[in-house]
Amino acid sequence: MRPTSSVPAIRLSDYKQPEFWIETVDLHFKLHPTQTRVRSKIVFKGNTDRTDGPHDLRLHGQDLKLLSASINGTALKPDEILLDAEGLTIPADLVPQGGFLWEAEVETNPQANTSLNGLYMSNGMYCTQCEAEGFRKITYYLDRPDVMAVFTVAIDGDAPVLLSNGNNLGDGKWHDPWPKPAYLFALVAGDLVSHDDHFTTMNGREVDLQIFVRPGDEDKCAYAMDSLKRSMRWDETEYGREYDLNLFMIVAVDDFNMGAMENKGLNIFNSKYVLASPETATDRDYELIEGIIAHEYFHNWTGNRITCRDWFQLCLKEGLTVFRDQQFSGDARSHAVNRIENVLQLRARQFREDAGPLAHPVRPTEYIEINNFYTATVYEKGAEVIGMLRTLVGADNYRKALDLYFERHDGQACTIEDWIKTFEDACQMDLSQFALWYAQAGTPRITVTEDFAGDTLTLTFTQTNPDTPGQTDKKPQVVPIRTGFLAADGTEAAPEQTLVLNAGVQSFEINGLLDKPTLSLLRGFSAPVVLDRQITNAERAFLLTHDTDPFNQWESGRAYALNLLQDMVVADAPVDAAFPKAMQAVATNDALDPAFRALVLSLPSEDALAQAIFESGTAPDPDKIYAARQNLAKAVATELAGDLPDLYGALATPGPYTPEADPAGKRSLRGAVLSLISHLEPDCASAKAQFAAADNMTEQLSALATLIRHNQGGDAVQAFYNQWAADRLVIDKWFTVQVSSAPADSAVEVAKALTEHKDFDWKNPNRYRSLVAGFAMMNPAGFHRKDGAGYEFFGDWLIKLDPVNPQTTARMCGGFETWRRYDPARQQMMRAQLQRIADLPNLSKDTAEIVGKILN
Ligand code: TRP
Ligand code: ZN
Repeated sequence: MRPTSSVPAIRLSDYKQPEFWIETVDLHFKLHPTQTRVRSKIVFKGNTDRTDGPHDLRLHGQDLKLLSASINGTALKPDEILLDAEGLTIPADLVPQGGFLWEAEVETNPQANTSLNGLYMSNGMYCTQCEAEGFRKITYYLDRPDVMAVFTVAIDGDAPVLLSNGNNLGDGKWHDPWPKPAYLFALVAGDLVSHDDHFTTMNGREVDLQIFVRPGDEDKCAYAMDSLKRSMRWDETEYGREYDLNLFMIVAVDDFNMGAMENKGLNIFNSKYVLASPETATDRDYELIEGIIAHEYFHNWTGNRITCRDWFQLCLKEGLTVFRDQQFSGDARSHAVNRIENVLQLRARQFREDAGPLAHPVRPTEYIEINNFYTATVYEKGAEVIGMLRTLVGADNYRKALDLYFERHDGQACTIEDWIKTFEDACQMDLSQFALWYAQAGTPRITVTEDFAGDTLTLTFTQTNPDTPGQTDKKPQVVPIRTGFLAADGTEAAPEQTLVLNAGVQSFEINGLLDKPTLSLLRGFSAPVVLDRQITNAERAFLLTHDTDPFNQWESGRAYALNLLQDMVVADAPVDAAFPKAMQAVATNDALDPAFRALVLSLPSEDALAQAIFESGTAPDPDKIYAARQNLAKAVATELAGDLPDLYGALATPGPYTPEADPAGKRSLRGAVLSLISHLEPDCASAKAQFAAADNMTEQLSALATLIRHNQGGDAVQAFYNQWAADRLVIDKWFTVQVSSAPADSAVEVAKALTEHKDFDWKNPNRYRSLVAGFAMMNPAGFHRKDGAGYEFFGDWLIKLDPVNPQTTARMCGGFETWRRYDPARQQMMRAQLQRIADLPNLSKDTAEIVGKILN
C-alpha cells in the first residue's frame, strides 16, 4: 500500500501466537494524581505451540517509569532489561521458558495523561480506557487480545468509591473470575454516587446493578437503568445469553474519547450516553442512550466471553454487537423507523468513507494505529454484513448458528474465519464468496434493467465493485436483493422474493404476471450497495404512496428529492410542482406513523447532495446546495401552508414528557412542521412561542435551531445559556446549535468567537467536538466558504488538539476526507491545510496515518 508515515504498518499476515501465555495477574494500585504506583505479579506460562524458541520476554509498556522488576523472585539488574519507547525486552537466557512469575513496579502520571487512554483523571476522578492498547500505559504486559488472564486487583486510594472488574471483595479489592484480555480491564476511583437496582436472570440468579455518577447527577440515571434491564432480558429471550457475574456496573465520565466501553462488569460511558432528564436530553439522546447501553451490555457475550484474536478481527465483536443493538432498538421502538435511521447513518458515514481515501475492508489487513480503525466501515458495514447473512440463511438458521458460535467459541479469542465456519457448519452452506464482504472495500454498485414479455419479467443485474486505495480487480460479491412487485392498484402482483446476486451480470425471470409490475427493489435495504435504476419521478411518487415496504416507501421519496435537488443545483431547474404535493399527501396521512412522516419530510443532507453531484461528474457548489434545499423546503411549506397550523396543533404531546417512540415520533414530526412554518413566517413567531413554552429539551432545542437558522437567535441564545449554564451536557448543545445552524456567511466568525467563550474547555472531547465538529461537519456551507476561512479555522484546531489528544484529532480529520469532490480552488485550500498538518514536526502517528491517506 501507499507509504503514509515513517511508522511501520502492522499486518494481518504477520500474526503469530504469543511466545508466552498469562494465567493470572495481580495488580496493586497506589493512587496518586501525579505519581501512581502500580505493582504487578504476573504468572506466565510457555506457549508450547511456539516451538521456535528459546524466546526473549517482550512486554508492551508506554510512558511508564519502571522502578523494579523480578523473575521468580530474583531482581533484574538494569542492564538485563532493554527498555525502549514501546516496551521492554528481557533476553531469553534470563527467562525460564516453561513459565515464571514476573513482578514489577511502575510509576505513572494520570494527571498528565490528556490522551484519555490508559489511566487518566477526569474532574478529580481516576478512570481507565484500555481498548485497544491502553493497558500498556498502566503496566508492562502482553497487551494483545489473544492473551486472556484472570485478574485480581487491589486499589489503595482515598476516594470513597474504588471500582474494578468482577466481584467486589471489599476494601478496594476485586476479583474477576472470567479470563479476559487486558483491553477489558478497568479501574475507577472517585467521589461518586450510585443509582442502584437489581435484575433476576432467566435462571433465577440475582444481579446487582449500579450506575455511578458525580454527586448531583443521580436523578438522571433512570432511563439508562431501565434500558440496561431491558437489554439484559432481551439478550436472554433473543439469544439465550445470561449475565455471568453477580454485579454489573456502569460509570459515567465527562472526559471520554468515544461513546462507551464494555470493560468486563464495569462499563465506562461518556456521560452524555448515560445522563438524561426530559428538560436536558432530547428524544435523540434518549434513543442513543438506550442503544449504547444495550450495545455495551451485549458485548458481554459478543466481545468479552468471545473476544478477538487480534485487532484485525475487530468487526467480529463490533459488527455483531452493532447488529444486535440495532435489533434490540428495532424491537423496542419501530423497525421501519429504525431501519431508515440506520441507513441514513450508514450512507452519511460509511458510504462516504468507502468512497474516499480512507476506504478499507470490514476486516482490514494492515494498520499503523489501531485506534484509527474504529470506523463506520468496521462497525456499521460490519453490522450490515451480519444482517445479510441473516437474510440469506433465515432467522431460524441464524439463531442455530449463533447458538453454535457461543457453544464452540466461549472463552476463546477468535477470527472472522471462525465466525464464517460456524455458519457454514450450522447451515450446511459454502460461504466462501460471501466472505468477500469482509475482504473487499468499496460500496458495490448495482444496475438493473427490466424486460417484460408475455407473462414474464426478466431482471438483469450488473454488479461493479469499485477500486479503492490499494485494491483493484475485485470479484463480484453475494448481494441479497429483496424484491417486491406492485400492481397498478398498489397491491402485490406477486409474492416478494429475495434475489441473490453472485455474479457480475445475472438475470432472473419472474413468471405468471398479468401486467408489467412496478418493482420495489432492495426492500429494507437488504444489502449495503448503491442501486442505480432507471425510474421516473412518477414511478417514485407511485412507490412513495403505495409501497408496502416502509423502507422503500421512504426511499422513493428520498430518491425523488435527491433527483430534483440535483437538477436544481446543477441545471438550475425550477422546483417540480408534483413533489410538494407528494410530500403533502404523506405529511397529512394520519394512517402513517408520525416518526416515519418526519423522515419522509426531511430532505437529503447537504453532504449527501454534494456526493451525488460529484458522482454525476460536477464539482458540488456548497452555496447552491444550501439554497436549493431551502427553496425546495419553502415550496413544500407553501404547498402545505393550509395544513401546517392544524398539524402543528394536533401533534402536541400534552402531559408529562415520556421518551417512548410514540410521543417522540410526534415531537419529531412537529419539529419538521415547525421548520416548514418558519419558512412562511418572517418573524418566526411560532418558533419563538415554542421556545418560550417548551418544557422539554427536544422542543426547546428544535425551536432554538430554527430561530438561529433564520437569523432570529439573539435573545433565545442568551436565554438558553442563562438557563443551562450549570449543565455541561446542555452547554455542549448550546455550542453545537450555534455553529451548525449559523448562516453560511457568518458561521466561521460565530465559531471563532465561541472558542473565546469561558466555557470552551477544548481539552474536553465532548466540548471540542460540540464546537469544532459541529462547525466542520454540520455546517457544510459555512465550512466550505469560498475564502477558505472555514478550512483554516478547522486546520488550526486540529493542530492545537493533536499533541493533547491524538485519537480524537485523527478521527476529526475525517472532516477533510471529501476534499477531492470540490472545485480546484477549494481543493487547493483544503490540501494546503492537510499539508500544513502533515508537515508538523511532532505529529502523532494517529493523525499522520489519517492525513497521509487523505492526501494520497
Ligand atoms: N469497544 C467500544 C465499543 O464499541 C469502543 C471503543 C474502542 C472505545 N476504543 C475506545 C471507547 C476508546 C472509548 C475509547 O463499544
Ligand atoms: Zn462496541
